[in-house]
Amino acid sequence: MSTVFLNGEFLPGDQAKISVFDRGFLLGDGVYEVIPAYSGALFRLDEHLNRLQSSLNEIKLANPLSNDEWVTMLNRLIAKNYATELSVYLQVTRGIAVRDHAFPTNTAATIFAMANPIKPMDANCYQKGVSAIMVEDNRWARCNIKAISLLPNVLLRQQAVEHGVVEAILHRRGHVTEGAACNIFAVFNDEIVTPPKSSELLPGITRDLILELAQDNGFKSVESEITLEEFKLADEIWLTSSTKEILPVTMLDDVQVGNGQPGKVWSAMNVVYKNYKKQLHSESLK
Ligand code: PDD
Repeated sequence: MSTVFLNGEFLPGDQAKISVFDRGFLLGDGVYEVIPAYSGALFRLDEHLNRLQSSLNEIKLANPLSNDEWVTMLNRLIAKNYATELSVYLQVTRGIAVRDHAFPTNTAATIFAMANPIKPMDANCYQKGVSAIMVEDNRWARCNIKAISLLPNVLLRQQAVEHGVVEAILHRRGHVTEGAACNIFAVFNDEIVTPPKSSELLPGITRDLILELAQDNGFKSVESEITLEEFKLADEIWLTSSTKEILPVTMLDDVQVGNGQPGKVWSAMNVVYKNYKKQLHSESLK
């Protein structure tokens, strides 16, 4: 049984209980983060804590912990659930109150965190690429917030599952935004393109890292809107997230992307990404 953290205590997952009056449960009133930890070291932790702070600011909820307290708690959590590759999930809700849409006063936030081994994707997904479908993005207008109220994303991802593909890639007003649970990249003539940050997409930590690595390693890259028509003609399409890392899409709406194989820019960037992970890993062991 994994050990979880709930409101100041570490306890077995099946003994952690929250109130039925918690606003996270009743109203989806909260935010979350998913942070990978490799060999016991939290990956891009500062960036994740900054994004958590920005989500909390957007929903006008005071951060219940200082950054030092988050770091201490998360490190204890991963030590208690050690695996080489962990996915740490944390959630903050506006706490327990009589059900009312308006914010309660003087209510303590609920803080929950768990750490589970990352289930590796089938190696075939990286060797052959995966399939995706395009779906109209019908989520709300504040997708930059990592909100726990994920029903639209759940329904969009389910459409992908029902089509037997890995992800639903979303488009709004004629341009692509992101995936149901990831960011997207396209490659045109060796240039890596991803939509700019806006309220239409989550500012992915993996997305930012790829742009940083592209710049440091001489890849051409740009943040720019991609129309649906352009996207369908991309040489390469990638999905990115903390748990997927960089996943090549080789079939889009049953049509081959590029030559139908993971592309050469993906192969090169995937090596750079893996080396960056390895380098952090060896630094954490020092
Ligand atoms: N999802 N966009 C959406 C809608 C996401 O849900 C995610 C990640 C991303 C990628 O963000 P990052 O690179 O920081 O993981 C983009 C996580 C993994 C989840 O909900 O489980």
